[in-house]
Amino acid sequence: MSTGLAGRTVLVVGAGSGIGTAVASAAAVAGARVVAASRRQDTAEQVAEIVGGGTSAVRLDLGDEDSIRAAAATLGSVDHVVTVAADHANGPVTALEQSDVEDAFRAKVVGPLVLAKHLAPIMPPTGAFVLFSGYVSARPQPGLAVMATTNGAVDALVPALAVDLAPIRVVGISPGVVDSGSWDGMDDKAAFFAQVASSNPARRVGTPGDVADAVVFALTSPFLTATTVHLDGGQRLV
Ligand SMILES: NC(=O)c1ccc[n+]([C@@H]2O[C@H](COP(=O)([O-])OP(=O)(O)OC[C@H]3O[C@@H](n4cnc5c(N)ncnc54)[C@H](OP(=O)(O)O)[C@@H]3O)[C@@H](O)[C@H]2O)c1
Repeated sequence: MSTGLAGRTVLVVGAGSGIGTAVASAAAVAGARVVAASRRQDTAEQVAEIVGGGTSAVRLDLGDEDSIRAAAATLGSVDHVVTVAADHANGPVTALEQSDVEDAFRAKVVGPLVLAKHLAPIMPPTGAFVLFSGYVSARPQPGLAVMATTNGAVDALVPALAVDLAPIRVVGISPGVVDSGSWDGMDDKAAFFAQVASSNPARRVGTPGDVADAVVFALTSPFLTATTVHLDGGQRLV
């Protein structure tokens, strides 16, 4: 049986992000029928138009179980599910708002669990989930306690879901610093990227395409499950 993506349906949650759009595009190029999901229907539709190739759009908020249930009913069946969603609660712990912390956990931890609850029953045994962690789980920094903790929870969730949902596969992707657009508001982005590129073993910053290629690899590797791929240029070591 072919393990490629031709003719497979791939749901991409958080498709409006730089990495999410790149994943949707890479899956479409590999022949998948892509469904682009965003919290906003208009964003999902814009991404579907950018990706092309018959990509469809669905509204899905990982903090809203009804929207996940409705998306599952609309899809009817799906081969693979990728969630890149993240909601950020950065800053010193003493300044955090509880609601922001809860939103961050809903996007990365609670939401993917609820996603698995509603999507796994409509997936074939050959299906796969890809969840997104991040290098900060291994390199905590001041101001990033929530990011480190949500990503660490994803690292634990991946093998837990893999044994629970088997033989459906569950793979984590843990990016390093990626020029996805999410850093664009940073005043000293160029200096930060230069510092990252000079210090990590890959000697460069990642691109959304780097990450999308790893997602396609994860979706099409039938012996890969219960583990996280560190697509980080070695960033977790520096
Ligand atoms: N960029 C990096 O350097 C880097 C480094 C390490 C890890 N990562 C991880 O890689 C993934 C993608 O990163 P990115 O930089 O492309 O994107 P991002 O800016 O972190 O945003 C991801 C997307 O998450 C979606 N989202 C937030 N809350 C949601 C919810 N409750 N339900 C559904 N979607 C929700 C948003 O989409 P909508 O507003 O359209 O719904 C947003 O576009 C994230 O998980 C991130 O933590 C990135």
